[in-house]
Amino acid sequence: MDIRIVENSKMRAAWDLNARAFQDSFGRAPTELEATDNFPVYTRGDHVIGAYDDDKNGVLVGMVIIRSQKRCSIITNLYVLPDYREKGVGRALLEFALEHLEQPQTPKPFQLLANRENQGAMKLYNDLGFRETYRWDNGIVHMERRDNWNAPKMPPPSPEHDH
Ligand SMILES: CC(C)(COP(=O)(O)OP(=O)(O)OC[C@H]1O[C@@H](n2cnc3c(N)ncnc32)[C@H](O)[C@@H]1OP(=O)(O)O)[C@@H](O)C(=O)NCCC(=O)NCCS
Repeated sequence: MDIRIVENSKMRAAWDLNARAFQDSFGRAPTELEATDNFPVYTRGDHVIGAYDDDKNGVLVGMVIIRSQKRCSIITNLYVLPDYREKGVGRALLEFALEHLEQPQTPKPFQLLANRENQGAMKLYNDLGFRETYRWDNGIVHMERRDNWNAPKMPPPSPEHDH
């Protein structure tokens, strides 16, 4: 498995995989607006990280989007194709993001939203040092990973961005 930043010229495959993730979650294809939601604007320094299966002509089998914001980086749209799950692909995608996209000079916290009932995702996030910072009644949790827990707490984003 090769984990790397998806180049602009290869973004179509990530777009398609993202649509597949939406279909899996909601049972229908995304609208144009929903498909665009969270997709990075490269000028902002956002990234799509992809997992490519080298044994199958380098097909894209997993992805995660990292959105760079002023005071934090948002992890979103984490998805691994069903046949490739529980083989360490999700972990490898997140580890790549945490290692390669952290800025040592001005470390920013990573934030994400997750559903508490999503056992795979919760295990992964907890293992990688994310902590719950806010919980909504509908089971959505806001999680954050940062080095300095004494720094002022950041407000959570709105729950609409769950993915
Ligand atoms: C969540 C998801 C990305 C995990 O990807 P993955 O490649 O299966 O994750 P990994 O194989 O790296 O597993 C990481 C850990 O979680 C565990 N795990 C994974 N899926 C699990 C499940 N369904 N139930 C319990 N544990 C699970 C693994 O055993 C592993 O633990 P270990 O390292 O101690 O063995 C994948 O299940 C997925 O795409 N789900 C649909 C989309 C989704 O829910 N995205 C997250 C939105 S917040």
